[in-house]
Amino acid sequence: MSVPMLQIAMDYITLPPALAMAVKVAPEVDIIEIGTPLCKAVGLDAIRAMRDLVGPDKLILADFKSPDVGGLEAKMAFDAGADMMTVIGGAALATVESALEAAKAARKEMLMELTGVRDILARAREWRQIGVERMVYHRGWDEQTFARQWVEEDRTVIRQLIDMGFKITVTGGLTKQLLPFFQPLAVSVVICGRGIRETPDPRQSAHEFRMEMQRLWGSGAATSPVYPGGKVALQSAAENAAKALRWGVSEMGLMLTVDGRECPGCDSPQRFCWGTRVEVVAPAGLNAGDVVARISEEFGRSPAVTRGAEGSFVLDPAQLPGGTPNEVLDLLRAAGRAIQRLGYSVDVPAGIAVAERILRD
Ligand code: 5RP
Repeated sequence: MSVPMLQIAMDYITLPPALAMAVKVAPEVDIIEIGTPLCKAVGLDAIRAMRDLVGPDKLILADFKSPDVGGLEAKMAFDAGADMMTVIGGAALATVESALEAAKAARKEMLMELTGVRDILARAREWRQIGVERMVYHRGWDEQTFARQWVEEDRTVIRQLIDMGFKITVTGGLTKQLLPFFQPLAVSVVICGRGIRETPDPRQSAHEFRMEMQRLWGSGAATSPVYPGGKVALQSAAENAAKALRWGVSEMGLMLTVDGRECPGCDSPQRFCWGTRVEVVAPAGLNAGDVVARISEEFGRSPAVTRGAEGSFVLDPAQLPGGTPNEVLDLLRAAGRAIQRLGYSVDVPAGIAVAERILRD
């Protein structure tokens, strides 16, 4: 099961504290959410300022919870620099469709926000038919204030939504202690706001949150981020290693995949993958299991080389013992050679050259 991405919700009513919080926590999170209050108070300028601050690699979600005029609001969010926006579940199907159309045109993402939706599964069937892929399953703030707990029924519904093919984000008063409640589920994103922001050391809290997610959903070996003094570090060493591997395998002539879709590229604004898993499609005619076995012969058996979803294999630099550039290059070389030995032509030197450049930078 993949480790979900971590999203921090910036539910502020002015911009400076949101930007200050982003400086602290950006290295530890995958997605920065411009919370609904901030969208209302500051508007598109909040998205623009956050994009300027965090640069192109970090994902930004505008939590508009749009009730109407979906296409226009989605376009406004995307034009301002957001990668994702939300539409409220009570919106008319026409609103959902037009926001979705705008998302597709911009090659970005639209998520349905389930706050207040009572007949979730019935609505989900309609949304599925028009092509919605992502939803935010939400215990609302006000509901939480009125003592709404996370209960077994939530898990049942989330499981059904995942079985229907949706990618599910969970949110609503989440804390590190609540994470095990969701662990049996293949959720895609976990949002935390107050549980990180309102702690004495938000960066440390975000770090612990991420480590706990890695422990619960991953293999236990978490990535080790770097914190250059005061500056937003956009990539941990392992994430950079993953980028080197991704570019390296692409340069060799192999194809990457993310959630079963063609990878848009590490530098693409619509990038939507967990930081260090590099999932590669086994070339036509090759069995992914055979590829993993051959790479293991070349490189030695390692948790950094595993089977992926059907027809793919995964290289994960976070699982390398030292995570040094040489290890990363050896892994890439082993993958290229293994595929060559299985009779498929790949340009190993070209892939190594690109990876070396990224690791050096
Ligand atoms: C409120 C929201 C919040 O952003 C979401 O609930 C996450 O915040 P927290 O973790 O503080 O509950 O969308 O409508």
